[in-house]
Amino acid sequence: MKCIGVMTSGGDSPGMNACVRSVVRTALAKELTVKGIQRGFAGLLDGDIHEMGRRDVSGIIQRGGTVLQTARCLEFMEPKGQRLGLRRLNEEGIDGLTVIGGDGSLRGGIALHKMGFPVVGAPGSIDNDIAGTDMSIGTDTTLNTIMRALDALRDTASSHERAFLVEVMGRKCGYLAAVGGILGGAEMILIPEAAFDLEDVAHAVQDAYIQGKSHALIVVAEGAQHDINQVAEYLRQHEVGFDVRLTILGHVQRGGRPTAFDRLLATRLGVAAVNELLAGNSGVMVGLQGGEIGTISLEEATSRQREVKQEYLDLFNYVS
Ligand code: F6P
Repeated sequence: MKCIGVMTSGGDSPGMNACVRSVVRTALAKELTVKGIQRGFAGLLDGDIHEMGRRDVSGIIQRGGTVLQTARCLEFMEPKGQRLGLRRLNEEGIDGLTVIGGDGSLRGGIALHKMGFPVVGAPGSIDNDIAGTDMSIGTDTTLNTIMRALDALRDTASSHERAFLVEVMGRKCGYLAAVGGILGGAEMILIPEAAFDLEDVAHAVQDAYIQGKSHALIVVAEGAQHDINQVAEYLRQHEVGFDVRLTILGHVQRGGRPTAFDRLLATRLGVAAVNELLAGNSGVMVGLQGGEIGTISLEEATSRQREVKQEYLDLFNYVS
């Protein structure tokens, strides 16, 4: 292998830059040529590809987002797009690819791998929904952002004696809501993995009021059975004691300086991805497995959503 490509794809996540830096510098240290592919698979199809040197990744370890930019590319989901992608890789003389991204991006990697092109994935997603890794690049930073937001909202909620509904991201996965709820001391979490009655939410808020609490914080995952507006509407129509406000954290959760955890994880995964390619392995994702860096096949990593640990749900119930 002489030349590897690196791309970030799907939703950006803090720490992707640290991973790109790690891939580039590890590959250069091993005397490979490295080419950066802009805007994920969309940039691959457009031939938006450039050689990268050490200096191209200077001063990016602390930056959120991705200097390679990213995109969600529907064209690459079709065989025609995949064949064009393979052609572009061949034209560029790239003979191995690292894809940093979430499950959709890793599926793109599977398509290339099945056509015989060497691909190694690295999990980059704030949602922490990718199987085969304890944490994805970006999740820890997002948890910190959610935690700070909940701390701030609690200040104003207590001052005004209000109930706050706070929507967090996570697509169909409740990890950010569950762990964010633990870290922020929420009264209740509403996650896609658990069905709930609006009546029970109203009771929980009423309970908090009757117990003499000065506020109630409820973290609502964006994929929860009832969305935040429905929950707010229901609470407002029923006597729950507190005035109700809602906050949607939105894309603020995706940006910001990556934490120490994410920088280290991303750096470790970048080194591992290059080593896997050099070892002749393809169709695998590198991930954090019990503190160590291991691998899982891309097929398995994308075949199911990573589950929120029951331990965290129990823990939330004990401490809330
Ligand atoms: O997968 C990351 C994520 O931020 C999800 O939590 C969210 O549902 C989605 O991306 C939002 O995507 P977009 O930025 O394309 O609106």
